[in-house]
Amino acid sequence: MSAITENNGSAAAVDAEPRQGRWLTFNILRCDPADPGAVPHLRAYRIEEADSMTLFIALNEIREHQDPTLKFDFVCRAGICGSCAMMVNGRPKLACRTLTASLPAENTLAPLPFFELIGDLSVNTGKWMRGMSERLQTWLHGREDDVDLRRIEERMDPDLAEQIYELDRCIECGCCVAACGTARMREDFVGAVGFGKIARFRLDPRDARTDGDYYALIGDDTGVFGCMSLLACHDVCPKSLPLQTQIAFLRRKMAMTGTRR
Ligand code: SF4
Ligand code: SF4
Ligand code: FES
Repeated sequence: MSAITENNGSAAAVDAEPRQGRWLTFNILRCDPADPGAVPHLRAYRIEEADSMTLFIALNEIREHQDPTLKFDFVCRAGICGSCAMMVNGRPKLACRTLTASLPAENTLAPLPFFELIGDLSVNTGKWMRGMSERLQTWLHGREDDVDLRRIEERMDPDLAEQIYELDRCIECGCCVAACGTARMREDFVGAVGFGKIARFRLDPRDARTDGDYYALIGDDTGVFGCMSLLACHDVCPKSLPLQTQIAFLRRKMAMTGTRR
């Protein structure tokens, strides 16, 4: 019997449904970097699978009924905030978008590598994303003489708006960086998430920056020329962003820009 079946109230409604749950084991890497004496170790938790259970729900059950000290992040529970990314059997995934039905009975969970560890499955992706964003200046750079608040908005070609929107769907979850071989070797690599941001502003006709300006930001080994093009980022992105196309395109553009300098 799972912890939730021992509960009453709303949980009873869940119990009323017939359930043929498997027993799932989660071996979770526990670590508290704030405690100098803490030794990282795997701790096993067992719960009974429920219909339509996500990994996020399973972790909540564990925290609520077995171990209130377990640390992991979430906000939206709907694949929008990017907070719940973690390594699931060695692959970065969003816990709230991973059905336990897609997992084997025994699983290993670990925090995303590369990012600062807060504890257990919780990492500080926000700190790294902010640094990357400031370094790549991921905001619209309009023309200085172009500010007129009374002017009617300019129309944008719907196909172009769609392309920009497609790249704007990035939720900064960090899965692409966690899967990236280059990022594992050099901390200053901007990662696929950084390339996606540059590609987004490069597409935007309101941004005054030139390819020379973008070259100054990503035209070296910490940018496009450090990328090994093995495309793990593309494979793991939970939003299915077109990272493969954008990285190839950016690298070609930056190589052409570099030869002209
Ligand atoms: S590009 Fe994809 S994997 Fe990378 S941070 Fe954005 S949504 Fe996550
Ligand atoms: S293709 Fe480039 S950015 Fe993507 S995972 Fe490989 S090295 Fe990292
Ligand atoms: S909790 Fe927001 S993406 Fe999973």
